[in-house]
Amino acid sequence: MAADSIPFIDLGAQRRRLGAAVDEAILRVVNHGGYIMGPEVKQLESDLAAFCGAKHVLSCANGTDALALVLMAKGLKRGQAVLCPTFTFAATAEVVAWFDATPVFVDSLPDSFNMDPASLEQGIAKAKQLGLDPVGVIPVDLFGQPADYDAIEPICAKHGLWMLCDAAQSFGATYRGRKLGTIGMATSTSFFPAKPLGCYGDGGAVFTDDAELLNVMRSLRVHGQGSDKYDNVRIGMNGRLDTMQAAVLIEKLRIFPDEIEARDRVANRYNALLADVAIVPKVLDGNTSVWAQYTLRLPVGQRDGVAAALKAKGVPTAIYYPKPLHQQTAYRHYPTAGNGLPVAERLAEEVISLPMHPYLDEATQDRIVAAFREAVRAPAKAA
Ligand SMILES: Cc1ncc(COP(=O)(O)O)c(C=O)c1O
Repeated sequence: MAADSIPFIDLGAQRRRLGAAVDEAILRVVNHGGYIMGPEVKQLESDLAAFCGAKHVLSCANGTDALALVLMAKGLKRGQAVLCPTFTFAATAEVVAWFDATPVFVDSLPDSFNMDPASLEQGIAKAKQLGLDPVGVIPVDLFGQPADYDAIEPICAKHGLWMLCDAAQSFGATYRGRKLGTIGMATSTSFFPAKPLGCYGDGGAVFTDDAELLNVMRSLRVHGQGSDKYDNVRIGMNGRLDTMQAAVLIEKLRIFPDEIEARDRVANRYNALLADVAIVPKVLDGNTSVWAQYTLRLPVGQRDGVAAALKAKGVPTAIYYPKPLHQQTAYRHYPTAGNGLPVAERLAEEVISLPMHPYLDEATQDRIVAAFREAVRAPAKAA
């Protein structure tokens, strides 16, 4: 019988640390009554800008809307193509389809799990061959590690494409010393509770240095508002962040740098203890990761047995992602770069994620490591 179950992410431990500070922040909103666009929303936006160095920050309802606000502001439309990795969460490509534009799926790099620049070139060529007009690229910083922007940005520049960085999993990480939020035309993120910086519900933000883009998105966030509430100058949406969530995030942002360090310690320890039994994740030179997931690779066919053995010992695992988007029912009619996306297809069969959060103590981690090591050795023993 399994011992006590270990949480995959321990939001309770974080909540205990935040204690009265977060209670009081929520209560302040309850009492001042500015539930929609209250003062905490503006404060959070300026705190986030100070944290990452972006000139402008626009908070919004979730990470999907953050992507959509940018695409809406760019006037994305039918006939246009946007290059996206196939090995990502559905939202990255979903928003492209919302505007009747075409996501073109790109393969991944095996070591970082991020967009493969060579496949990106092939994807742009494929879009053109199909008579589409490629207009932009959405690289994703998968599992918390920045994409290879030094390789992707020149490709965008060469083809006249904008770059929207999907940092839903990576906010707080750095790329060659720059915090995410300052790269490309814009960066989006998510504050979904399980994200490295998460609130107590849905939330998101867009980061940009482009004041014009910001002004259009600010209007789009509130139904295309013009000079006042009942002046509608464009078709928009209701994409606001709740004041209560902003209040929570202000408190969580204060401890975020310390949590990022703790996540890194946990990941480095996992790497040291597991590198001889699985392919451990690699943070590329010049990058830091916020470890939204700690994801290993196992030989094809081994994963299900390992997950079951860990589960029996109270150790949860997760598969991000079991199917790349180009193989999903809703997306398989969209084009893919080159002659298929073999790396992403293989990764989808190999990856397995272990519990990861800043409050994972060494004793608990040792239990996870011991269970994992035993599980991966088990098939060999049985043979
Ligand atoms: C890569 C990526 N993009 C976008 C999103 C969407 O964020 P949200 O769930 O806040 O809408 C997520 C959320 O899981 C994500 O992982």
